[in-house]
Amino acid sequence: MTTQNPGLFIAFEGGDGAGKSTQAAELFRALESRGLKVLRTREPGGTPIGEKLRSLVLDHGHGHIDAHTEALIFAASRAAHAGQVIRPALDRGEIVLTDRYIDSSVAYQGAGRDLGTDAVRTINEWATSGLQPDLTVLLDVDPAVGRRRRTAGDTGEDRLESEADEFHTKIRTAFLDLAAARPEKYLVLAAHLPVEELAARILERVESLLSLSGRVNA
Ligand code: TYD
Repeated sequence: MTTQNPGLFIAFEGGDGAGKSTQAAELFRALESRGLKVLRTREPGGTPIGEKLRSLVLDHGHGHIDAHTEALIFAASRAAHAGQVIRPALDRGEIVLTDRYIDSSVAYQGAGRDLGTDAVRTINEWATSGLQPDLTVLLDVDPAVGRRRRTAGDTGEDRLESEADEFHTKIRTAFLDLAAARPEKYLVLAAHLPVEELAARILERVESLLSLSGRVNA
């Protein structure tokens, strides 16, 4: 139902440990079981070059990466992802679910790294030729809870995750500000709700978008 193409583009956003991947997987299963064609993808990554850029920017051991370089690497990865994966799938009429998109850069690099949210938005709109989600699901997580959840598996934190709680608090505020500025494009949910309840509320919102676009009966 996007204005740009026949598909439906949904982004999952939120702080680290919010449970985005779990919810993206739940929605993927629910939509596929209705016979819909769904593509699930993630950022940074989603293409071979994007996966290389992902490890450059997230793995420890590449020395200091300054904030501008970091923002441009995320934007470069996103340019490939939007142009090579997301837009073609939307043009084929598919539903695309992405784990993170432009809002992550606006929140992490724009607010977290203090590069400025407008500047970061501008480079990313250029990188993606203006491709915007039809809906962004924001899973709002308390940074302390997010840290507990992601360290519980003991897989180690990446470069961004291991930043101080103050950094993650700025990110949380930035995400909420983005949602408040365009509420019709967001579904904001408290990440601490039970997984099944979150999944049901996300599916309900997506089904209403699909019925508006005439893909499924309400
Ligand atoms: P992700 O793989 O989503 O981590 P997780 O699934 O553990 O939440 O994202 C990796 C990290 O990259 C995460 O800390 C957020 C950060 N990130 C940015 O700083 N800017 C961006 O534009 C993106 C896409 C991610």
